Amino acid sequence: MVFLLLPIDFFEMNTTKNPALPAERYTITTALIYANGPIHIGHLAGVHVPADIYARYLRAIGKDVHFVGGSDEHGVPITIKAKKEGITPQEVVDKYHKMLKDSFEEFGISFDHYSRTSAKIHHQTASDFFKTLYDKGKFIEETNMQLYDEEAQQFLADRFVVGTCPKCGYEESYGDQCENCGTSHNATDLINPKSAITGNVPSLKETKHWYLPLNEYEDWLKEWILIGHKNDWKPNVYGQVKSWIDDGLRPRAVTRDLDWGIPVPVPGGEGKVLYVWFDAPIGYISASKEWAEKTGNDWEPYWKDTTTKLFHFIGKDNIVFHCIIFPAMLKAEGSFILPENVPANEFLNLENDKISTSRNWAVWLHEYLEDFPNQQDVLRYTLTANAPETKDNNFTWKDFQARNNNELVAIFGNFINRVVVLTNKYYDGIVPTPTGFTDTDEETLAQLRKYPQIISKSIQRYRFREALMELMNLARLGNKYLADEEPWKVIKENPERVQTILFVALQIATGLSVLCEPFLPFTSKKLKKILRFAPNDSVTLSTVEGPLTWNDITTKNVLLPSSHQIGNAELLFSKIEDAAIQQQLDKLEATKLTNEVTDKTVEPQKETIAFEDFTKLDIRIGTILEAVKIPKTKKLLRLKVDVGIDIRTIVSGIAESFSAEDIIGRKVTVLCNLAPRTLRGVESQGMILMTETPDGKLAFVAPENDDVSNGVKIS
Ligand code: 2FM
Ligand code: ZN
Repeated sequence: MVFLLLPIDFFEMNTTKNPALPAERYTITTALIYANGPIHIGHLAGVHVPADIYARYLRAIGKDVHFVGGSDEHGVPITIKAKKEGITPQEVVDKYHKMLKDSFEEFGISFDHYSRTSAKIHHQTASDFFKTLYDKGKFIEETNMQLYDEEAQQFLADRFVVGTCPKCGYEESYGDQCENCGTSHNATDLINPKSAITGNVPSLKETKHWYLPLNEYEDWLKEWILIGHKNDWKPNVYGQVKSWIDDGLRPRAVTRDLDWGIPVPVPGGEGKVLYVWFDAPIGYISASKEWAEKTGNDWEPYWKDTTTKLFHFIGKDNIVFHCIIFPAMLKAEGSFILPENVPANEFLNLENDKISTSRNWAVWLHEYLEDFPNQQDVLRYTLTANAPETKDNNFTWKDFQARNNNELVAIFGNFINRVVVLTNKYYDGIVPTPTGFTDTDEETLAQLRKYPQIISKSIQRYRFREALMELMNLARLGNKYLADEEPWKVIKENPERVQTILFVALQIATGLSVLCEPFLPFTSKKLKKILRFAPNDSVTLSTVEGPLTWNDITTKNVLLPSSHQIGNAELLFSKIEDAAIQQQLDKLEATKLTNEVTDKTVEPQKETIAFEDFTKLDIRIGTILEAVKIPKTKKLLRLKVDVGIDIRTIVSGIAESFSAEDIIGRKVTVLCNLAPRTLRGVESQGMILMTETPDGKLAFVAPENDDVSNGVKIS
């Protein structure tokens, strides 16, 4: 048999050739997820699946990889959720952190460590980081006017305030970042700001904060990114960064007047916390420290050794924080490495609509794992094949089904099944000895040997979709080889030839089992079990002593040796029926209907109150005895109402819906202990409870029976 061996160093990433030398070191991070909700396919497609492919790939080619993620547990999103649910922020993050961590684990995201920013070690790390910058004089300390909500008695920053983006004109921009154009700004830059808590127009109130003067880092950022990474950063990332730098950078406040977060650890910082975007990225470092404490390893080389390569996997909305603000913080601190690359992705839509947590328009990972048990790889595959790498992309359940049935089942699964079934049928599962190779055999094996390099090239350029397509091309190669060689026919007239055919096909199956691991880790494991790899991922009887590597696929003559015993056939993938897809579509349809009803008629629920708050309300049944229009007003009626306790005057804004004479004698519901208010010179001693009809008219909220006595309480 003649094999053309390729040189061993085809991985252009300086694969360690000398085992005595330490492996090249990589630190990989995934954007920390806000622990205010479960994880959805948008997060997975944009961040976690590509990061996991990258980490698994690097490990497969022998690199020293440190892969961390975690939950982002501070900031306004958490506070808002806690207010909505009537629980504490800590209760919110405890609930969702567990959910996130468990889902990632079950989905096979191969973190070395998954941490959280409410952890003590993170508070300490972020606090120390701030203190270092403070001691080095890297901050500007400034007292100035900030947006304030008088009613909520709260400074308005970040998601507590919305207004028009000064850059793109989007009307729902947050105080710190516009979700439409990605620009990051200060809350006072917003045009027409409105409190997200009360809807009020904010006033201005004086407060002190610490600012990172990003303008002082402009020249350095230009040199480092605009010149240094012109050719290796993705165009979408480079383009955004360039536009921000070209617009000119300004100092950014890194502290907030909030009560949930990491306390500002310097004099004058009492009652203030670190800005969530100051502490969150430091969470990557804290995660490594926590990992080191737990495992007895050293975290420092992964963050301080200049030969280590740092990669942040994020979505496009996080670019400014990872490419400008966090690097400026790292630079100011001085002892950490900077990112080698920040391969940010665009967004994934669901069934042609924007994924939205508040509108429940998402495929939630924990629900997927329940609805499609043991089918993690199908979702990984679909999300990678459709990854929003260069533009926003769309997930549809029909495409999910088609990718599974027409690609994973029909191509990958079918090839493996045929090889394994035939080997068992003809040779009792023992890899046959080849009896001479034809040109086609040689050519097919030569093709197989090229795949590690082909797939590597795509992964190294963050083209994970392309890499996956190449992996499937290897499965296609196997299918075509079997279809052309037709061992099931040849067995009758030339059984010796079939030995070679199945030997070749088994080499491809073995190559697939190794090369699919970064993309389809569960399938890889299953396939290696079918092929009976030893527990250390090596193949018995072969020349392979350790795990079979990507390099081996290119350089070894034989991957799965003759006489090796394989196992029985087992389906790698199974067909997904229409009913399962319809169930998912029905679920989304129900969400759509709920949203339509909610959008049209129902305002969001107000903040939760305690039962004691409710018991403070004195609501009673009353009867209107008199009604007179208040002169020179459109809406106001002066009413005399018998509320059982007394007969009182109430001013009510119902004149556009009722004429005075029509409502005499009406039973009404009255909030009696509302503090009196004077309206147009008349003191109102309570409030009549009203609701609205679909045509916008007011209607009384009253007991069904007219014989309920005045003064009877509502409780
Ligand atoms: O945008 C987000 O969802 C943030 N929680 C991402 C934080 S990334 C990092 F800095 F921690
Ligand atoms: Zn904008």
